[in-house]
Amino acid sequence: MVEVKAVSSGADLSGRTVIAGVLTGLQPIPGSEAVFGQVEPRVMDIAGFEGKVGQVLSTPVGSGVAMLVGLGDEVSFESLRAGAGNAVRAVKAESAICLLGGVDIEGATRAVVEGLALGGYQFRPYKTKTEGKLKVKRVELPGADEGTVAAALIGVEATNLSRTWTNTPAMDKAPEEIAKVIIEEAEAAGLEVELWDFERIQREKLGALLGVAAGSDRPPVLLVLSHKPDSATKHLGLVGKGITFDSGGLSLKTAAFMEEMKDDMSGGGVVAAATIAVARYQLSLRVTTVIPFTDNAVGGNATRPGDVLRPGTGPTIEVLNTDAEGRLILADGLGVVRRYEPDFIVDVATLTGAAKVALGDQIGAVFASDSDVAASILQAASRAGEPFWELPLFRGYRKSLDSEIADIKNITGGRYGGAIAAALFLSEYAGDGPWAHLDIAGPARCRETAGEQVKGGSGAGVRTLLELAMTLADTD
Ligand code: BES
Ligand code: MN
Ligand code: ZN
Repeated sequence: MVEVKAVSSGADLSGRTVIAGVLTGLQPIPGSEAVFGQVEPRVMDIAGFEGKVGQVLSTPVGSGVAMLVGLGDEVSFESLRAGAGNAVRAVKAESAICLLGGVDIEGATRAVVEGLALGGYQFRPYKTKTEGKLKVKRVELPGADEGTVAAALIGVEATNLSRTWTNTPAMDKAPEEIAKVIIEEAEAAGLEVELWDFERIQREKLGALLGVAAGSDRPPVLLVLSHKPDSATKHLGLVGKGITFDSGGLSLKTAAFMEEMKDDMSGGGVVAAATIAVARYQLSLRVTTVIPFTDNAVGGNATRPGDVLRPGTGPTIEVLNTDAEGRLILADGLGVVRRYEPDFIVDVATLTGAAKVALGDQIGAVFASDSDVAASILQAASRAGEPFWELPLFRGYRKSLDSEIADIKNITGGRYGGAIAAALFLSEYAGDGPWAHLDIAGPARCRETAGEQVKGGSGAGVRTLLELAMTLADTD
């Protein structure tokens, strides 16, 4: 990852690569005028540089390099974040100086740090050439507040952790293995960790998790992370979907749909990473995070369509489609988190293709037990710069989940409203308190590198949860 650090405002720019911001109409942003002034208009003309979003122009000036970054029509968190992300990948030197954060809007530094450190993410442990295209190792922010940079980096580093977990091939993230990797990070951040192994899960009678795990030779685990500051008066419960590979089970997916199913533990990675960020921030908020990890595979003992599962608590489930497995393990995850009696529960899951159909692959779906809960999630998402949109928890569809022989079935049998049906299913296990469900099937993976986004696992949701935790935390 690129190192981003604050330096004194009088930093020497000569001989350096200097990132400067330009709006459409070739207007330099405040702080970038001097660098912009050194670039001949003819050079911009020839390169077709107009200051549009996505445009970056590098040109030698004096003994250094001016790197002009298009920010579009206005300076906003979004344009700064995206511009910084585009710039960091275009730098050809080992180090650069970035002037984008110098504008007079509160939060500019954070947006620029996010753009640089998220846009400079690479995942190359499986490449022979581990160094990759990214040249720059360090970016300096003259005059930036050190504390602001450090705080922004907590959210960024958590996002990048979650990206790496999603990007890791399923062969190298069996439930026990991914849990071990997460535990290492969690303990380093000061979290309390409890790992339930297969025997413990059996003893606790988590029949829904066991039902999904039955088809795999790799045993399931359930991870509990706790952040328990003495000062906290409120308690947030998080649950993440940790399907380490979703083959669909006996209701097998087709090859094309299976291709990206190593992503199916993204929700688990997101809640774990957000919890780690909460601990590193030392927020005065209790957080209990529960992640059931299992494969959804097709072994001889796999759950069959028509089988009935008994979760630890809540309605018995007739499994009519083994590919609707996320809601099964979340039923048990929600049941476990409720034992800790949180005041507010949020689950995060790559739950339905239907959420992707409804909102496309860049927007996450939010379902909430009431409109205040929905508003708190949407406001957190907006502050984080992560697109989420509310979908209704429409009770009118609930009866489509009625089962002939059990309390509930795991699919409706119909073609439409699948994301809503899944959310209604979860609501049966979420209790009566404030609860939100984030379906990140779309945004968990990023399809193209642009701005702060890098193709692959996105970490979408980490910074939204962190923002939510900040608003729930006690402040003095
Ligand atoms: N993990 C998938 C959902 C998914 C699909 C995530 C595409 C990311 C991209 C989930 O377990 C699943 O298979 N859902 C089914 C549910 C259906 C059987 C009711 C789906 O969406 O097709
Ligand atoms: Mn599935
Ligand atoms: Zn799945």
